[in-house]
Amino acid sequence: MSQAVLTEIHGKVGLIRINRPEAMNALNDAVVDGIAAAVDAFEADENIGCIVLTGNDKAFAAGADIGVMKDFDYMQAYRTDFITRNWERIKTARKPVIAAVAGFALGGGCEMAMMCDMIYAADSAKFGQPEIKLGTLPGAGGTQRLPRAVGKAKAMDLCLTGRFMDAAEAEQSGLVARVIPADRLLDETLKAAQTIAGYSLPVAMMIKESINRAYESSLNEGLLFERRVFHASFGLEDQKEGMAAFVEKRKPAFRNR
Ligand code: CAA
Repeated sequence: MSQAVLTEIHGKVGLIRINRPEAMNALNDAVVDGIAAAVDAFEADENIGCIVLTGNDKAFAAGADIGVMKDFDYMQAYRTDFITRNWERIKTARKPVIAAVAGFALGGGCEMAMMCDMIYAADSAKFGQPEIKLGTLPGAGGTQRLPRAVGKAKAMDLCLTGRFMDAAEAEQSGLVARVIPADRLLDETLKAAQTIAGYSLPVAMMIKESINRAYESSLNEGLLFERRVFHASFGLEDQKEGMAAFVEKRKPAFRNR
């Protein structure tokens, strides 16, 4: 049997590929456990500064595996803590994570992409939360993250009609950071990830943590958090190096401390 998740290392970037092409990369335990294990490994690897999660040309992931879910009863879903147990590992990653989405990102696939720090989309990408067509609702954060990304009106429209949104609309509405021609998606995403991984890792982590704070707190609390982390950055060797390099007109050599 082929592995449900493949990993590769490109320089300082850890790449995770969802690999169930026969099922449009539907997310079953093998896939989600594989993603969680890969995130664990890349988080622990000192040489990795950024993580990329991707699928294939046809699908990032077409949702949670419907064949597996269809016979769940309430107690099974509750007792196994379906979704929370392993899906949320992406959310707790401290290193930056980019979703590179080509083809379908539907249901849990769209939600998994939204758990990443940002989404780069191929022009072939299609996003949607079609759970309503199956008699259920988004259960991996779609009703919460989608309105934060695209606003209430479009989130309601997508979740209540089950329609798909193309890459252009996704970019226009703020769900994706960039749209890239499909044949360049992975190269461009890896290039951006290498750029991020070339900076000071603790600084990238501080930026990620501070931006995520914007979703959890009032403006003044968020500003206070940012200010304190900004102050803390003056305790880093990398801040001394970055600013000295600018003044000395040379490239900085960050050492992640
Ligand atoms: N679960 C299990 N299998 C899936 C799947 C899923 N979510 N999505 C696709 N597949 C399987 C199909 O059953 C099919 O398998 P067989 O060849 O064995 O029949 C194979 O992938 C190819 O799919 P299609 O033949 O349907 O391909 P298509 O090009 O005609 O359509 C598609 C592609 C529009 C993505 C369509 O497959 C589809 O609508 N998939 C379901 C999307 C969906 O409803 N996702 C939400 C799931 S619920 C959820 O995710 C809950 C949550 O919030 C966590």
